[in-house]
Amino acid sequence: MACEIKTWFVMTILFLSANYLQHCVYGKSQVPCLFIFGDSLSDSGNNNNLPTSAKSNYKPYGIDFPTGPTGRFTNGRTSIDIITQLLGFKKFIPPFANTSGSDILKGVNYASGGAGIRIETSMTMGSVISLGLQLTNHRVIVSQIATKLGSLDKAQQYLNKCLYYVNIGSNDYINNYFLPQFYPTRLIYSPKQYAEALVEELSSNLLSLHDTGARKYVLVGLGLLGCTPNAIFTHGTNGSCVDEENIHAFIFNAKLKSLVDNLNYKFSADSKFIFINSTSHGLQNADGISGFGVSNAPCCPSRLTGGCSPNERPCYNRSEYVFWDEFHPTEAWNLFTTIRSYNSCNLVSTYPMDIKHLVD
Ligand SMILES: *[C@@H]1O[C@H](CO)[C@@H](O)[C@H](O)[C@H]1NC(C)=O
Ligand SMILES: *[C@@H]1O[C@H](CO)[C@@H](O)[C@H](O)[C@H]1NC(C)=O
Ligand SMILES: *[C@@H]1O[C@H](CO)[C@@H](O)[C@H](O)[C@H]1NC(C)=O
Ligand SMILES: *[C@@H]1O[C@H](CO)[C@@H](O)[C@H](O)[C@H]1NC(C)=O
Repeated sequence: MACEIKTWFVMTILFLSANYLQHCVYGKSQVPCLFIFGDSLSDSGNNNNLPTSAKSNYKPYGIDFPTGPTGRFTNGRTSIDIITQLLGFKKFIPPFANTSGSDILKGVNYASGGAGIRIETSMTMGSVISLGLQLTNHRVIVSQIATKLGSLDKAQQYLNKCLYYVNIGSNDYINNYFLPQFYPTRLIYSPKQYAEALVEELSSNLLSLHDTGARKYVLVGLGLLGCTPNAIFTHGTNGSCVDEENIHAFIFNAKLKSLVDNLNYKFSADSKFIFINSTSHGLQNADGISGFGVSNAPCCPSRLTGGCSPNERPCYNRSEYVFWDEFHPTEAWNLFTTIRSYNSCNLVSTYPMDIKHLVD
């Protein structure tokens, strides 16, 4: 109960400050720096100049963001934007594609819409920045930080204190395993083997990240893949979730959670990893007080790819919708779920601790 009250208190503050970040006065942030790896759930503009169809730098995307469309795949803030604010950062973390005018010592966002753990994921959409390439980009930033601080040792010591957020894997299903007409993975792997292969590849990327000095990690699991409006439309389920797609998210998440246990054991002397369970919020009226009346249709009119049709008018009340387009949640839903994973009483949603305790 005490936890719940605090949650709503934080939520009110965030609602008030949502569109006025630049006018807010914050104290020092809880970590000096934040590095972000992932896909469209976290992208803040890395795809804008890439030859890909995975783009969102046009209206009505960004309709509730202070600077309009930026390449975020939602109407306002992404989940990691909200975490950035909760951590006390004065500015959002800049995309790797444009760090000009930003202080890279505060962090960089490498996330790319369409990106997967596997390099071939989303190749039918043009070029996107897979997890491995995001790490390559991070090494470029690490060497720039080393130059700034005077040595690679100093850079590593500094990078030890940062938070590393990794939210990736949905596209390895939606734009790979679920499309056997384009990708062979379904012929090669059983669902369990595929999740294992993905988590193993993720793990080896995390080990490389550890080599660059990363010590505090937030690993985000997959959401309910079968409950996106796109899955529902594609399968013609008349509004209900596609259970056979959700199963993959549960299998992947269980493996990711075990990976968190293994890594916390292996690196118990110097590192901490946490798992965020993105399926733990359900999809609507989680408490009977959340007010999300529509969970199986997008707020913006969509085009064939499932993204918003350019310049079309979105739904009237965006706070009633879980989904902004056919794949991505609204800012309202991001706010609802993120506050719960930042400060959670429940080991089912954040394991073995929440973000607040990780950075304390
Ligand atoms: C790059 O970022 C700066 C500062 O955030 C912004 O003013 C500028 O418009 C951006 N440039 C591009 C090409 O997006
Ligand atoms: C589809 O859902 C609607 C509303 O829930 C219901 O009235 C209708 O009977 C359903 N149709 C089928 C074919 O199940
Ligand atoms: C995530 O949350 C759901 C719903 O509460 C639960 O059924 C599932 O077991 C959790 N997943 C993991 C890996 O803990
Ligand atoms: C939008 O929906 C939310 C949640 O149901 C509700 O609290 C709010 O009053 C609605 N706003 C408008 C302008 O209708």
